[in-house]
Amino acid sequence: MPALPPIRLGINVDHVATVRNARGGKHPDPLKAAEIAIAAGADGITAHLREDRRHIVDDDVVRLKAHIKRPLNLEMAATPEMVAIARRLRPHAACIVPERRAERTTEGGLDVAGQREALRAAVGQLAGADIRVSLFIAAEPAQIEAAAAIGAPVIEIHTGAWCDAVVAGDGAGAAAEFDRIARGAALAAKAGLEVHAGHGLDFITAERIASLPEIVELNIGHFLIGEAVFEGLGDAVRHMRAAMDRGRARAAGRAP
Ligand code: PXP
Repeated sequence: MPALPPIRLGINVDHVATVRNARGGKHPDPLKAAEIAIAAGADGITAHLREDRRHIVDDDVVRLKAHIKRPLNLEMAATPEMVAIARRLRPHAACIVPERRAERTTEGGLDVAGQREALRAAVGQLAGADIRVSLFIAAEPAQIEAAAAIGAPVIEIHTGAWCDAVVAGDGAGAAAEFDRIARGAALAAKAGLEVHAGHGLDFITAERIASLPEIVELNIGHFLIGEAVFEGLGDAVRHMRAAMDRGRARAAGRAP
């Protein structure tokens, strides 16, 4: 059997902005994080412009679109404001996500089956601006069928419940969730949808889910930004130590 093409990795830089916004100002910059992620092998960058702008802000998406050398995937609610922003910005892709309780299914993804007409209109408006639209849904047959029926070319399967079960050590729950995802991915691919997945993935769950052949892209954020603190903190401290030591060397011979 021929090898499948590599699974694409989209890096979500929202939580770089979360850290920046804790102080205001410009540091750390999600654009710099995006450029580092791309240099390290990311195939695309994802940013979620929330209605309350709690992490990524409008200027971030403008700068990401202008400067990154890989596709930008804008996560957004299906509101008139966000659709207008996306149509102006023209990211490569837009992933429609629920932001309010009423838009969610019990599993946490978008309730496509319950709001077909509103979502069909948003998908059409985004597609009309040449944006590839995905819908972030639970791996539920009713949601998958509704996504295909309203003309979305892509779905992103919500992996949060599975990842939570894995982290909690709930073997039976994790097996049931993984099975649901695998069946959903197969059903979606059969319906002609491109299948992505994301939410809560870490090294272990990303390796496991990459074994599902229908899934062509993973979008990963929170775990990696957290891991970057551990993998990068030692170097940052060494850099600071060296800067302080250089400064101190210039004080030689000067009495306190
Ligand atoms: N995919 C979608 C649609 C999301 O909303 C998120 C969270 O912003 C992710 C992927 C990434 O999830 P995490 O930050 O848990 O890796």
